[in-house]
Amino acid sequence: MDVEQTIYQQLGESDGLRTIIETFYENVGNEPLLAPLFPENMAPVIEKQHQFLTQFFGGPPLFSEKHGHPMMRARHMRFPVTNERADAWLACMNAALEQNNVEDELREFVIARLQGPAYHFVNTHS
Ligand code: HEM
Repeated sequence: MDVEQTIYQQLGESDGLRTIIETFYENVGNEPLLAPLFPENMAPVIEKQHQFLTQFFGGPPLFSEKHGHPMMRARHMRFPVTNERADAWLACMNAALEQNNVEDELREFVIARLQGPAYHFVNTHS
């Protein structure tokens, strides 16, 4: 892990991030807690997640340019996000990073950065 570089750079910039996100949504599609919340066609979700994580990890502000203020918690309010689903979301991302051979230290750093938002989006207690 190179602390002089943004996470976005360390994950391989646009192409590297896209590959990880594609793997992530394959994992989501195979996760019974998450799959029913998502549309059959994941392409638009992949695109928006690519724009969002690009800016979240220190790359250009693609999401805000296209869609305005992220307001990510609000954008998740129409879905029942439980603690278990936040765990499952993070597990799918952790697996995607492993499947794409992201080194352990960087993988753990990325997951730690995503934990805050993931549990912040919990809006339903099961
Ligand atoms: C905590 C568990 C989470 C669940 C269950 C969840 C679920 C969802 C669902 C169902 C959608 C909508 C898909 C559609 O367009 O139909 C969505 C959209 C999105 N999610 Fe999540 N999500 C979670 C966490 C996160 C996290 C941690 C991030 C990023 C830090 C994130 C970023 C996004 C983005 C960027 C979109 C697209 C927003 C838009 O439509 O403008 N999500 N999520």
